[in-house]
Amino acid sequence: MIPATVVVERDGETLGVGSTCRRSWLRPGWAETRVWVAPRHRGTGIGSQVRHQLDRRVTDVRWLFATVRGDDPRSLAVARGWGFEPFGIAVSMALHLRSRAGAVRAPAPHPQDVELRTYLSLDDVDVAALDAVMRAADTSPEAEAFMTSGLVSLPVGWHPAVVVAEDGDGRPIGVCVADRVGPRRWHVRLTGVVPSRRGRGIARALKQRLHEAARDHSVHVVTTTNALGNAAITALNRSLGYVATASHWRVRRESNEETETP
Ligand SMILES: CC(C)(COP(=O)(O)OP(=O)(O)OC[C@H]1O[C@@H](n2cnc3c(N)ncnc32)[C@H](O)[C@@H]1OP(=O)(O)O)[C@@H](O)C(=O)NCCC(=O)NCCS
Repeated sequence: MIPATVVVERDGETLGVGSTCRRSWLRPGWAETRVWVAPRHRGTGIGSQVRHQLDRRVTDVRWLFATVRGDDPRSLAVARGWGFEPFGIAVSMALHLRSRAGAVRAPAPHPQDVELRTYLSLDDVDVAALDAVMRAADTSPEAEAFMTSGLVSLPVGWHPAVVVAEDGDGRPIGVCVADRVGPRRWHVRLTGVVPSRRGRGIARALKQRLHEAARDHSVHVVTTTNALGNAAITALNRSLGYVATASHWRVRRESNEETETP
């Protein structure tokens, strides 16, 4: 049953922990799973013990999803041994608003007939329209493969910072959705423009407007995570001054596969 948690302790010391949980940003039938072993106890079978106990308990999902740091080949090899296969790479990026690159406030040429609206609460937003434009714009590799789209993909209790682009008739055509995760950091969850309106500078204008709002709220850094192969958003982010900070393998496995008992 989900959620499942496993803790391995000896003499009051935590040697390893694991969990398998549903996530709003994962499609139905998927669950995120994690296994962690204290560094000095690695290579002694504790991870496999945790993995096996989790697998015995979780039978009500189809796919297990996990991430492994890109600079940790040993953990990737262990995950492969448990039947997980890499299917993508997530690149985390950050824009330091106080750095030289982040301080650039070059005004973007405003896309013609496009109005930008900024919201820090959903109270004043047409929530159904926002959800619809998020879904229509989200053709990301993640949405194609394993993630949910629209408002349901946001974590429960998120703190919105949303910029919506509207056409001349007031219809939403693009969106930048961020979570105000802390007083100094905002995390962009989606930047998307409906396919028919791409290539006109709308995404650039959306992100620049979000950065302005972040600066106005004394935010130091805006972060985001994208699929390695997503050329459009990667090029846009780089041109705005974002730098890569980390990469993670995305790995998955059918949940009913048998894992070796340690
Ligand atoms: C990424 C996306 C938001 C870009 O929207 P857009 O309005 O077409 O982008 P813009 O016109 O503002 O382009 C700004 C910059 O992005 C980059 N870019 C846009 N499209 C690109 C493409 N197809 N290939 C490479 N770079 C591209 C360029 O650097 C461009 O700057 P330039 O015009 O000065 O060369 C859009 O492709 C989209 O909605 N994709 C699906 C959603 C998604 O994958 N979002 C990222 C995950 S959150």
